[in-house]
Amino acid sequence: MKEFSGRVAFITGAGGGMGLAIARSFLKQGGKALLMDLKPEPAELELFRDDFFFVQGDLTDESCVAHALGSIVEKFGRLDYLVNVAGVLWFDRDKSVLDIDLDVWDQVMDINLKSMVHTIRHAVPAMRKSGGGAMVHFSTVQCLRGDPAPQDAYGASKAGVVTLSKSVAIQLAGEGIRSNVIFPGVAMTPLQARWDGKKEIQEAVANHVPIGRMGTAEDMANACLFLLSDKASYITGTELTVDGGLSARL
Ligand SMILES: NC(=O)c1ccc[n+]([C@@H]2O[C@H](COP(=O)([O-])OP(=O)(O)OC[C@H]3O[C@@H](n4cnc5c(N)ncnc54)[C@H](O)[C@@H]3O)[C@@H](O)[C@H]2O)c1
Repeated sequence: MKEFSGRVAFITGAGGGMGLAIARSFLKQGGKALLMDLKPEPAELELFRDDFFFVQGDLTDESCVAHALGSIVEKFGRLDYLVNVAGVLWFDRDKSVLDIDLDVWDQVMDINLKSMVHTIRHAVPAMRKSGGGAMVHFSTVQCLRGDPAPQDAYGASKAGVVTLSKSVAIQLAGEGIRSNVIFPGVAMTPLQARWDGKKEIQEAVANHVPIGRMGTAEDMANACLFLLSDKASYITGTELTVDGGLSARL
């Protein structure tokens, strides 16, 4: 019996680095999943063809989220987990609040924070019917501090994820539904494409991390599956930092 046999997850951002790694690990461990991203279905998932349902859609569109969740419950009969991974960090357009285009501010808030409202509202009724569940939401270690090269919409949206997760954790604890956050450090995924092929920068970042390397999407998947699993059944309303010690150093 694999760890997630008989369990069903909704994983957002599954066309990106961490979301795809989480989807792969979850499916490998016997789970079934609804996967959603703006990007098309990744070819790597073909191996698990009968165990997932991929929706290419926009999480800022509440009706799209509601429709996708309705289909998964119809197909797999239940919902146990919600994993909010999708997010954007627009290095070129996200700026100090003094300079940022307010349309960009609104778009970042919609994608990084309001999409979480959409997924939670439509996932929780299905989790209740399944008798409980767990959620993991992706924030960033960066939201713990101010930013000297400001990406203020990103930081504020990701701080909002933390408070919302804690609040939902308290509201739903009595119904057996847990909610936790992961704080990733720096990981080489498509989000950090600006460093592709720039070995010197990658090495400098890795050397700044106490463990001596950047994170991987699989590091995040391992932490996420732990928080979803029954091994974490007494853990809710908190954050797990997965950053190789980065935030521990001043
Ligand atoms: N990579 C890092 O260094 C790092 C560090 C800290 C936090 N994070 C956070 O971890 C999460 C995953 O990051 P990643 O590195 O895998 O990034 P990624 O860019 O590889 O993946 C994010 C995915 O979200 C999808 N997405 C964006 N907007 C969407 C929308 N409106 N609807 C549906 N899908 C949408 C994108 O298409 C993309 O595939 C993000 O929330 C990110 O902010 C990443």
